[in-house]
Amino acid sequence: MIIKDKEFDIYLNISQIEDRISEIGHQISNDYSHSTPLFIGILNGSFMFASQLFKNLSIQAEISFIKLSSYKNLTSSGEVTQLLGLNETIFQRDVIILEDIVDTGTTMVQLLATMDELGPKSVEIATLLYKPGAMVEKLDLKYVGFEIPDRFVIGYGLDYDGLGRNLSDIYQLKL
Ligand code: IMP
Repeated sequence: MIIKDKEFDIYLNISQIEDRISEIGHQISNDYSHSTPLFIGILNGSFMFASQLFKNLSIQAEISFIKLSSYKNLTSSGEVTQLLGLNETIFQRDVIILEDIVDTGTTMVQLLATMDELGPKSVEIATLLYKPGAMVEKLDLKYVGFEIPDRFVIGYGLDYDGLGRNLSDIYQLKL
């Protein structure tokens, strides 16, 4: 499979992906049986994972999608993450963040810090893919679809330069 100028090999097929998402859906439904959690999907990459996971929930739940944009704050040294499009109040809500992939973990750490200021009751992360070998942050990932090697992947919502999101299977960069 060639996308743009790079060659990719199949890595996870759609039935493996959907079986695993179904398991996570059951697990979350058990864990949140006494709550009505708010799922927050991070655009663009999480849209397929979010859709499939949401169909596999047997509890009442809400879903919303946000985009992240980061900028350097002149009065502090670090990057500040802005949540674009968050219309729901997350104050005292049980929130589950839906992400396509956690790589270094930097995005998630910044997102959690921003979200914490809004006073949620709880925040957990559900990520379809996780590259433990690339992680540089200390992060508690409660729901992980697949732990994968530190190699670039596309498909099932994940892109290479904007392309490949439409692939139903997940492909890994050929070495
Ligand atoms: P992190 O902040 O390093 O954890 O990066 C997370 C973001 O980087 C993800 O939400 C993706 O948008 C992007 N990313 C990291 N690894 C990959 C990959 O293998 N394929 C496609 N996108 C990736």
